[in-house]
Amino acid sequence: MRKARLAVLGSGSGSNFQSILDAIDRGELHAEVAAVFSDVPGARILQRASLHGIPARMLDCAGFRNKFPEEAQRKLAEELKVLGVDLVCLAGFMRLVKKPLLDAFPRRILNIHPSLLPRFPGVEAWKQALDAGAAESGCTVHFVDAGMDTGAVIRQARVPVCPGDTPEKLHARIQEQEHLLYPAAIREVLRNAALGND
Ligand code: GRF
Repeated sequence: MRKARLAVLGSGSGSNFQSILDAIDRGELHAEVAAVFSDVPGARILQRASLHGIPARMLDCAGFRNKFPEEAQRKLAEELKVLGVDLVCLAGFMRLVKKPLLDAFPRRILNIHPSLLPRFPGVEAWKQALDAGAAESGCTVHFVDAGMDTGAVIRQARVPVCPGDTPEKLHARIQEQEHLLYPAAIREVLRNAALGND
């Protein structure tokens, strides 16, 4: 069976991207990362891509603060098709994906979010959980739809909120689980896609 081709979109450090690469290296994911895309110049995820010899480029978002312009999404969708991408993985990507990409990859775009959705969508979800006095938090991998962190849940992992937690400590505990969860969820989606029963 051929390897699945993944594209990864990220705005930050890319530790989840790294966990996907590590799972591939360990033989746990029959996949390859075809390309990485970022909206943040100099983002560490771009450096990680270049370290691993994976093509990476900036998205055409310059001048659009939080938006991912439709034209840029259309162009990306075309590029992903040319690259033969099977699955698009958002990994810390801070812009909303809309119609051109969603239509081009129905149920083939995943996101990882640092809370137990549907609780605490949006930014700094770990801080939202602390502020709300939640007893536990965690992370979710879900299919992406046109909403913010609203698509169908694929997998979740839970972590406790501990006495004395700071936002940083809680986020670090959640990230440990993210790095296990994302490769496992990708494996599950690829398995179902191959069987045609997703
Ligand atoms: C993760 O916590 C992810 O859940 C959220 O953004 C963070 C990205 O971290 N969407 P990294 O860039 O993968 O290290």
